[in-house]
Amino acid sequence: MTALLEVEDLRVAYGKIEAVKGISFSVRAGQVVTLIGTNGAGKTTTLRTLSGLLKPLGGRITFDGQPLNGTPAHRIVAMGLAHSPEGRRIFPRLTIAENLQLGAFLRKDTDGVDKDLQRAYELFPILGERRKQAAGTLSGGEQQMLAMGRALMSRPKLLMLDEPSMGLSPIMMQKIMETITELKSQGTTILLVEQNAQAALSLADQGHVMEIGKIVLSGTGEDLLHDESVRKAYLGED
Ligand SMILES: Nc1ncnc2c1ncn2[C@@H]1O[C@H](COP(=O)(O)OP(=O)(O)OP(=O)(O)O)[C@@H](O)[C@H]1O
Ligand SMILES: [Mg+2]
Repeated sequence: MTALLEVEDLRVAYGKIEAVKGISFSVRAGQVVTLIGTNGAGKTTTLRTLSGLLKPLGGRITFDGQPLNGTPAHRIVAMGLAHSPEGRRIFPRLTIAENLQLGAFLRKDTDGVDKDLQRAYELFPILGERRKQAAGTLSGGEQQMLAMGRALMSRPKLLMLDEPSMGLSPIMMQKIMETITELKSQGTTILLVEQNAQAALSLADQGHVMEIGKIVLSGTGEDLLHDESVRKAYLGED
């Protein structure tokens, strides 16, 4: 079976500094794949490159059978690749409903958009209850739900989540992880970047460990969860 996303020898630099130094991985339809790794390993850079916000220095990205070679970001969204960025980036002055609708700005199927809006409110009831409030009044965890809901509003083939649990309380984090599990069970394909390696590997089909711009270890979520070096470096065991 061919992959939905194929990344081959991807290299990305900021000026002379190479932040991603030739990584390869793939995501098949229906899978949850996670990238874990230390701060500055190049995870966010990888996602930003996949969504067309950064131009690669080299390598190949193929999404849904099409090469992404300098394809503009809005085209990539239209092709079905959505990104919930690190730090959320919601629009605080717009209402929750308006933020969600922005995620669907490229869609013309009004009925489908309305259905997906209802689906987002089912997934995150708090967003439905507060749909007319300014998004800036939401708590950090609720804003994270909004960012995920907004990314889902483009009805993506692949949803990329950059640290969805960042800064959240354990309960909120659990709620976000449960939602990712629910999305997975509904067949959503997800590329997940997480600091919380335990949580990410527990629900991922495949995982890749990044260190200073390279993938140093790959395996199933289960394998990596039990790997001694991963346990030492990322799960706080000695
Ligand atoms: N705009 C930028 N200009 C210059 N260097 C940058 C820029 N953004 C990131 N970098 C550098 O690129 C490297 C990779 O950063 P990146 O944000 O991709 O890491 P990350 O794996 O997402 O880390 P974290 O877990 O802390 O979010 C780091 O060394 C970082 O300092
Ligand atoms: Mg990051």
